[in-house]
Amino acid sequence: MIRTIRGLRQYLAKVNGSVGFVPTMGYLHEGHLSLMRRAVKDNDCCVVSIFVNPIQFGPSEDLSKYPRDIARDTRLARSAGVKVLFFPGENEMYPEGDPLTGIEVEGVSQGLCGASRPGHFLGVAVVVAKLLNIVQPRVMYLGQKDAQQVAVLRMMVSDLNFPVKIFVCPTVREPDGLALSSRNKYLSADERRQAPALYRALKLAREKMAAGESDAAKIISLIKKLILDETNASINYVSCVSLKDLKDVRRINEDVLVALSVGFKSARLIDNIIFKV
Ligand code: PAJ
Repeated sequence: MIRTIRGLRQYLAKVNGSVGFVPTMGYLHEGHLSLMRRAVKDNDCCVVSIFVNPIQFGPSEDLSKYPRDIARDTRLARSAGVKVLFFPGENEMYPEGDPLTGIEVEGVSQGLCGASRPGHFLGVAVVVAKLLNIVQPRVMYLGQKDAQQVAVLRMMVSDLNFPVKIFVCPTVREPDGLALSSRNKYLSADERRQAPALYRALKLAREKMAAGESDAAKIISLIKKLILDETNASINYVSCVSLKDLKDVRRINEDVLVALSVGFKSARLIDNIIFKV
């Protein structure tokens, strides 16, 4: 495990060949590990970062109670073939406190989760930009589960000419369909039983779209109804947006992202599917 930027740069200076990079906030699960296995397979060296990034958490969010277990994470990352774990402290990443430089990806950051989490994607963009400058990988591996994060980082990398490719891995799910997330552990037993309704609703939407339903409003109502009927969760949003720019669509006549966020009492969950026409 390497804890300093200098130490990591010294290590990487001796690496011959391609570097794959998986940024994480730790408390690893199979979703993270699927990214690592892919990065290990495709590159000579795979770097995984574990850093719970304070600047992407809002004032009322769960920074202090974000789950952490570095011993377990080290074991799991090793089991996925990872040799380089970058585990910097807050002082290492933000020695002067909150950075004064922001990266605002206009348009893509404001809708969906951005609407109720102001500043979240700016915090993600800044930390990933720093990490990319530190690691300088050939490829960065991200999960489709966080579709808006992928869109924001794609745009940042393209607009600012970061010399990195982005590889997006599919969402890893529990056998009952619930997308793996570090936050699932907050769910009560009853909420955990209800949570697979999110993916059931998205699958139903996919079936209807495949059968020719092209009215986005109808697809959205269908999803909301199933979730409200089958869970006690409140709906933050259900959106049908263009895959290109995350703008709302009325008719499904282009590739779309159907994304949702719901609030259970003890955790906020997100999920999405892509529908290609
Ligand atoms: P974190 O939530 O730890 O996620 C790290 C990576 O794992 C992200 O690319 C995320 O999309 C992916 N991931 C999470 N759950 C997944 C699942 N069920 N299937 C597939 N991939 C999954 O996302 C972050 O950390 C942070 O915002 C970060 C990018 C590290 C910046 O701080």
